[in-house]
Amino acid sequence: HVYAGDVVDYGRSSSIIITSERLSRLDFPPDFVFGAGSSAYQVEGAAAEDGRKPSIWDTFTHAGKTPDKGTGDIAADQYHQYKDDVKLMHKMGLDAYRFSISWSRIIPDGRGAVNPKGLNYYNNLINELVSYGIEAHVTLSHFDIPQALEDEYEGLLSPKFIEDFTAYVDVCFKEYGDRVKSWMTFNEPNALTLGGYDMGMMPPGRCSYPFGVSNCSKGDSTTEPYVAGHNILLSHAAAVHLYRTKYQEKQKGQIGITLLAFWFEPMTNSPQDVAASKRMLDFHIGWFLDPLVHGNYPAIMRKIVGSRLPNFTKNDLKHLKGSFDFIGLNQYSAFYIKDLPRRSDDQYGSDYVRDVSVTGLYENGMLAKDFTRFLIADQKAGEGWPVTPWSIQRVLDYMKLKYKNPASVIHENGYAMTDNDLSNPPTRNDTERIEFIQAYIAALLPSIRNGSNIRGYFVWSFLDCFEVAGGYTNHFGLYEVDFKNKERRRYPKQSVQWYTNFLAKTGKKN
Ligand code: NOJ
Repeated sequence: HVYAGDVVDYGRSSSIIITSERLSRLDFPPDFVFGAGSSAYQVEGAAAEDGRKPSIWDTFTHAGKTPDKGTGDIAADQYHQYKDDVKLMHKMGLDAYRFSISWSRIIPDGRGAVNPKGLNYYNNLINELVSYGIEAHVTLSHFDIPQALEDEYEGLLSPKFIEDFTAYVDVCFKEYGDRVKSWMTFNEPNALTLGGYDMGMMPPGRCSYPFGVSNCSKGDSTTEPYVAGHNILLSHAAAVHLYRTKYQEKQKGQIGITLLAFWFEPMTNSPQDVAASKRMLDFHIGWFLDPLVHGNYPAIMRKIVGSRLPNFTKNDLKHLKGSFDFIGLNQYSAFYIKDLPRRSDDQYGSDYVRDVSVTGLYENGMLAKDFTRFLIADQKAGEGWPVTPWSIQRVLDYMKLKYKNPASVIHENGYAMTDNDLSNPPTRNDTERIEFIQAYIAALLPSIRNGSNIRGYFVWSFLDCFEVAGGYTNHFGLYEVDFKNKERRRYPKQSVQWYTNFLAKTGKKN
């Protein structure tokens, strides 16, 4: 008998996931949380309103460094439309909304004076959610570090960051912790270190070589990603320590961190390719999860990176190891990994990228032109990520095997389409998105049956927003947003109806 979510293997390129026509939330444990997500800079807009000052994202986009020159100045205008948005969430039946707080609204200079109007916005948003019984799952830092800290001490490259981050999260716990029961310190540190300090395609846009639109050359990609990553880990540990000692007992919330969690499958069974895919997973997930679970960077990273990789002191480890109640996983896709000889003539790739030495995604410090050669599935989402529902199972199995099966939540999963052209009516017929979401959700069921400690699932994203790598050309939303008009009206795509039916608590409607 096959059950919903089972993988039927017809050989590597055609494994399929069985979904059920009648898949519904009733197939999941009653306390399993279903939601949708966003992040501050990507949806709020109101970039210069009510005392908010620039973050590194404002600087980056205003320098014209996104592919479509888009900025988050208005974005989806959620700052003004949050009440209507929460109504839409309620109509859909979401248990939870995952959003992030903009540090630049709360403490506009990064450190020092707290801005009451900034505090107020999130109080209003949280109260609105609570009034509908929707849980607030809050990311404290989703890529958007205050520009003032970048100017003063190069942000994440300085250990001074740790103290400022801790002071900022203290304000958040104190102000919102009575109603927020799920906190994430950082979103995707593994994307930020790579995008911000190696490839330079995300702020602060640093890299060792002139590359792409951001034309960055002021950084050192051989060391900076590791330094930034180290300071993120120490900041995370300090924030969790603060929460645990000062707030958790009274507020009874949970705190964790969210990682980008692609799956990397060896291209062949050769020992070289198998080792390359393990190496890739260590550089991708292990970089952050090994210190948290096992108390050190992965052995292979220490070996390859050597003295460029910072060390943890005994004192660091006291607060770092075990500093999470759950691990958030942003799981979209999988890639084939092939071991490649290092290229000695590589004038673009940084040492860091050559360290990884894999084919595909990270070759040459940019999305490799040829990675489509290594697609696992025929179908591709808008941003070029292969559609591989089984990858969610692989990642959860890996969590069991390598990381002691931590409580985990799929914090992001979703499908991008270039579907925001209002002159083109089929735009809201997002059948592919429905198929995508349905298949990935179904794929969770065998993992649950097999004992994975998975607690929730969030679609990325609740509505179309400013996409980090694509500006306004690529859209993940369940709701479409009309970016051509300043009203930023919302229109439900068909996936809204699908998710609504799926989430209905009575009967099986799908
Ligand atoms: C990763 C990030 O957390 C989010 O900001 C981004 O929009 C999505 N995934 C899609 O790329």
